[in-house]
Amino acid sequence: MNLEALLASRLGAAFSQVAGATVDPAVRRSRHADFQSGAALPLARRLDRAPRDLAGEVLARADLAGVATAEVSGPGFLNLRLADEAIAAAANEVAADPRLGVPAGARPERIVVDYSSPNIAKELTIGHLRSTVIGDAAARLLEWLGHDVVRANHLGDWGTAFGLLIEHLGTGDAAGIGDLTAFYQAARLRFDTDEEFRTRARLRVVALQAGDEPTLRQWRHLVAESQRYLLLAYDRMDVTLGREHFIGESFYNDRLESVVAELADKGLLVESEGALCAFPPGRTGRTGDPLPLIVRKSDGGFGYAATDLAALRYRVRELGATRLLYVVGAPQRTHFEMVFAVAAAAGWLPDGVTAEHAGFGSILGTDGRMFRSRSGESVRLAAVVDEAIARTSALAPEPEVARAVGIGAIKYADLSGDRMSDYVFDWDRMLALTGNTGPYQQYAYARIQAILRKAGDFEGRIRLGAAAERALALELLGFAPVVEQAARSLEFHRLAGHLYGTAQAFSAFYESCPVLSAPPGVRESRLALCALTARTLRRGLDLLGISTPERM
Ligand code: ARG
Repeated sequence: MNLEALLASRLGAAFSQVAGATVDPAVRRSRHADFQSGAALPLARRLDRAPRDLAGEVLARADLAGVATAEVSGPGFLNLRLADEAIAAAANEVAADPRLGVPAGARPERIVVDYSSPNIAKELTIGHLRSTVIGDAAARLLEWLGHDVVRANHLGDWGTAFGLLIEHLGTGDAAGIGDLTAFYQAARLRFDTDEEFRTRARLRVVALQAGDEPTLRQWRHLVAESQRYLLLAYDRMDVTLGREHFIGESFYNDRLESVVAELADKGLLVESEGALCAFPPGRTGRTGDPLPLIVRKSDGGFGYAATDLAALRYRVRELGATRLLYVVGAPQRTHFEMVFAVAAAAGWLPDGVTAEHAGFGSILGTDGRMFRSRSGESVRLAAVVDEAIARTSALAPEPEVARAVGIGAIKYADLSGDRMSDYVFDWDRMLALTGNTGPYQQYAYARIQAILRKAGDFEGRIRLGAAAERALALELLGFAPVVEQAARSLEFHRLAGHLYGTAQAFSAFYESCPVLSAPPGVRESRLALCALTARTLRRGLDLLGISTPERM
């Protein structure tokens, strides 16, 4: 039973009776009581009544079973304190539920999560970290809630960059490409310095687009090599992207013409300097001119926007998705707003289908500027992971544990802050064993597992006596509401913050309540609290993509 939802529905009913209309009771955890509702204040203003009177009337009408004290406080807040038995009963219910009180699949949707999506034939850099980490958390969380999640790794696997790469590779029998970055840089260098190579690279793009078979063969080879490399990187980072999730830009090639045709049919395209453009209503540039979304370039080629339009239409029409998530950096916000606006005008986003750009801020160095290597280049993701593992090897001598802690620290640092904000990539902070960090949470989990191993088998229900037991139980009951909220808002910092609160409540409990040496009955109850805490931390961290070693 989700106590918070239960209180909300009961108070909501009482509020609605008093108001004669539906009212969101805005029930929240509170420092002043267990739960608080501030809904009487705005409602009183609207009804032109005294807020305290109105709050009193709501209390008089509400079903308050399980509530020990309910009072009107201050200007008209409702403060509710639950009876210990009600908290214990709810905690025991959650403890008996393999899903920790979180229902699965009440209204399952097919949800496409577009994430990671690097431009291939280049190495992953720190610039790909956030999309990969946030997108993976979204996919895990939504899937655990029973949704049918389609992971879409929208690889940049098509376009002019492939001309120079294929030309550099040559059309002979290509063995392994080896180091992708070196390969790309060498190709780039030739392109920048060799006129004749440049011409051949341009012709190669034409050949690729015309479907020239030897060229296509080389292109497939490059794509396959890149995918192989990407899969190893994802695996090392516990990212749930596999071979079956690669749906690169090239996949939409043979849908681009029909996108143009359909938009033209609906009168949504305008020719402008030889290019075909859509002008989504209400979108203007700095000078007030309408902003174009270029659907077909003047040379007849298709670009990023056309591919995204085709991908959106495919996801809705052919995959039957009702929620589309694009986990892509904040700078692409305008791009997605335009794509969504054009798609909506074309009727590709019917009622009940939503498209969201889940943007995010940048990663900064400790100097507060964009995070870059000393030589000013983008930092390779592999190097970041290597360093994380090297640094955690001191904390955790076992290689598998060091990897889990290193990767966990990086992911947690990314997910524990507000998604839209920039954050500073600071090793000392993210690896700290105290504070709101990955290692702290993993350590809290491992510590509880050590207690449970020592305890051996036990059976018993949660009973509440000490204040710290009660506080921990309430914290544990907050898991279900926060998970559901995070699935709606994709605000993973709320889930992370909640897990941190849970680990802290556990610490306070463990300091003041002996567990293994407690008298029979109390011992079992406390062990049950330990076990529920461990399961909650493990599940919560898993939803964030962070694994929990049994020992640290
Ligand atoms: N490949 C693009 C980039 O590196 C990101 C693609 C994001 N997804 C999309 N459907 N446009 O910037």
